Amino acid sequence: TTPLRLGIAGLGTVGVGVLKLLTTHAERLKERSGRDIVISAVSARSKNKDRGVSLDEYTWEDDPVSLASRSDVDVIVELIGGEDGPAKALVEAALENGKHVVTANKALLAMSGQPLAERAEAAGLSLRFEAAVAGGIPCIKVLTEGLAGNEIDRVIGVMNGTCNYILTRMEAEGLPYEEVFAEADKLGYLEADPTLDVGGIDAGHKLALLSSIAFGTQVDFDGIAIEGIERIEIADIRHAADMGFKIKLLGVAKLTGRGLEQRMSPCLVPKGSPLGQLQGATNMVIFEGDASGQIVLRGAGAGEGPTASAVLSDIVDIARGYRVPTFGQPADTLRAARPAIAAAP
Ligand code: NDP
Ligand code: HSE
Repeated sequence: TTPLRLGIAGLGTVGVGVLKLLTTHAERLKERSGRDIVISAVSARSKNKDRGVSLDEYTWEDDPVSLASRSDVDVIVELIGGEDGPAKALVEAALENGKHVVTANKALLAMSGQPLAERAEAAGLSLRFEAAVAGGIPCIKVLTEGLAGNEIDRVIGVMNGTCNYILTRMEAEGLPYEEVFAEADKLGYLEADPTLDVGGIDAGHKLALLSSIAFGTQVDFDGIAIEGIERIEIADIRHAADMGFKIKLLGVAKLTGRGLEQRMSPCLVPKGSPLGQLQGATNMVIFEGDASGQIVLRGAGAGEGPTASAVLSDIVDIARGYRVPTFGQPADTLRAARPAIAAAP
């Protein structure tokens, strides 16, 4: 069998994690996918940065977008991030040039996921994003595959590791916001623009993607009512604790007669509940299916290993020849998330 050949763009927290897993688990990945998975070329911003791993055996491209025109690349693994810029240009070029795409980029997919998925599907290509939502938790696969026989009534979740880390460290240690924020940065949890994390935008991107799959609706990030955790103080956390609650940045989405309702905001949850017990960068994603009942998924929501694990699951699916539409059904069949508002007479 022919090897599956990767072009990897972005060698930061997630990219380095992917390089490490591809190396340490090469044999296991081959057994599971039935073929070798090899790296043809890599790219990032600066070639000589110390990343803690050697790049000597890989071909280097200065411009990540050029990975998409290499004849020795079957799959582009986009781990740069950002809703525009080189990440978007690379994904577009990949689909144009007949390459599958695996990405961890929730910002890009929340903004342009539907047109990109339509392009991928029209070309018979995979565009996969397991790592984009809830880090190491395989929630996209649970929703698109495991729960495919259900009507989903509700999606609930803590989906940003940084926010949960900050809130729980502030509570446990009484540390000021700035100090725990710096810790989260060191651990590789933060987005390149961390206001996306603490402002609830990153978690909103993830909720928009899950809602689309769960309800068969177009990705509707703009329809989410978002509030972040920037204004939460230790005093708020202590008052909540005194009353038996924790503060969590919680997302909720459901379909109503008025269309898709989506909220992402700080909420009080009972201390002893599964959501209340989430510590550190842990995420929890809850699906309520009409036949399955409640499905609760819990795991590491950010960081090198967990996120790389999710990226690898998409790569292995592609190596196996397994195809599934990006949003669980053809992107051009997704319904409008909000009913059209009648024009004023
Ligand atoms: P990092 O900031 O650690 O890494 C980003 C990488 O992209 C770096 O290697 C950087 O190059 C490269 N890069 C940035 N800008 C450019 C550019 N203009 N041209 C070429 N290369 C560029 O990010 P993460 O690894 O944390 O995140 C990557 C993606 O994964 C993002 O979409 C993020 O949202 C997503 N994600 C991250 C998670 C996490 O826990 N960190 C979890 C889930 C998803 P250089 O190193 O040379 O500066
Ligand atoms: N910045 C994100 C978080 C990374 O903290 O959850 C994982 O998507």
